[in-house]
Amino acid sequence: MMVQGRPMRTIWLAEDGWAVEIIDQTQLPHAFVTRRLETLEDAAHAIRTMLVRGAPLIGATAAYGLALALRGNASDETLARAGETLLATRPTAVNLRWAIEDVTGRMQDLAPADRAAAAYRRAAEICDEDVEICRSIGRHGLAVIERIWEAKGRKGRVNLLTHCNAGWLATVDWGTATAPIYMAHDTGIPVHVWVDETRPRNQGAALTAWELGEHGVAHTVIADNVGGHLMQHGEVDLCVTGTDRTTAAGNVCNKIGTYLKALAAQDNAVPFYVALPGPTIDWTLGDGLGEVPIEQRDGRELSEVSGRTADGRMETVRITPEASPVANYAFDVTPARLVTGLITERGVCPASSEGLRSLYPERAGAGQTP
Ligand code: MRU
Repeated sequence: MMVQGRPMRTIWLAEDGWAVEIIDQTQLPHAFVTRRLETLEDAAHAIRTMLVRGAPLIGATAAYGLALALRGNASDETLARAGETLLATRPTAVNLRWAIEDVTGRMQDLAPADRAAAAYRRAAEICDEDVEICRSIGRHGLAVIERIWEAKGRKGRVNLLTHCNAGWLATVDWGTATAPIYMAHDTGIPVHVWVDETRPRNQGAALTAWELGEHGVAHTVIADNVGGHLMQHGEVDLCVTGTDRTTAAGNVCNKIGTYLKALAAQDNAVPFYVALPGPTIDWTLGDGLGEVPIEQRDGRELSEVSGRTADGRMETVRITPEASPVANYAFDVTPARLVTGLITERGVCPASSEGLRSLYPERAGAGQTP
């Protein structure tokens, strides 16, 4: 992605070769601030407080968090404790568990003296792999957008609706839901994106709008409840979202409110696609919608709103009555039957265990109800 005309990733090694640098996403879109992570606790804090967020980037940050931990002490105990600390930061995105298990597994047979360097190497590989995965998702998703553009007689524009931020900022580069959009834009298809604000943390309004703007993609921010109305009036050609955890049966857990968009899409015959990298599939989960752990976050994210004042100060104000309790569910699960297709790095498939197994045959047997 280009930021202020400069190609960037969302996570990289500092010039000293050992500290890790990230973009502080809590400051966007008002300020572009980078931060340095020097310890395991820095990495855990970055994930917990959502300086970094989005399933793939959470996984990449966790991988570097393990490397930072092993740099100081590469014992088995450090490795196990670091994994536990990172795993406890956020419960829903399965890439976190995937990355921790991947790096930890590779450390087991190594002598402690070799572990830190190997963990850094693997973290860098995970980042590079994520970039390639998202690039492939982009190519497969581009074919979906091209078909819609052809079906419209190459007239007007292709209107997409997305939710939350499954963009460049949620991954190492490209994004998942946004990769096909960037590629369509780059190949000259006139795309326009309806960007759900995504209350309560406003990842759409703050992050997706910012990154689409940086890349020059036409977009309009809408309140969370507008999507259904737009679909009824033929203003949405397709929906594309990301996912934090997809079950082996094709149910999709993503940012709260995704389910409502999928319901509206089905009622209006609007195709509803979910873009996902392989590491986002939880092969241990099958049909049950209640199986995915749903994060509940601090109620102040809901009862308060932050923003920039006209004179440039950041301010937080309360919007609910002091006495009213709030519940802040961060994710929901969209049943596979509402999903038109899953766009993966290996191609597009139906949202079903058969569909996923056709693309990931090495996982045959996973997710089948006994
Ligand atoms: O709470 P967040 O901001 O981490 O939630 C992010 C999402 O829900 C994304 O849609 C998901 O991680 C897919 S990212 C490619």
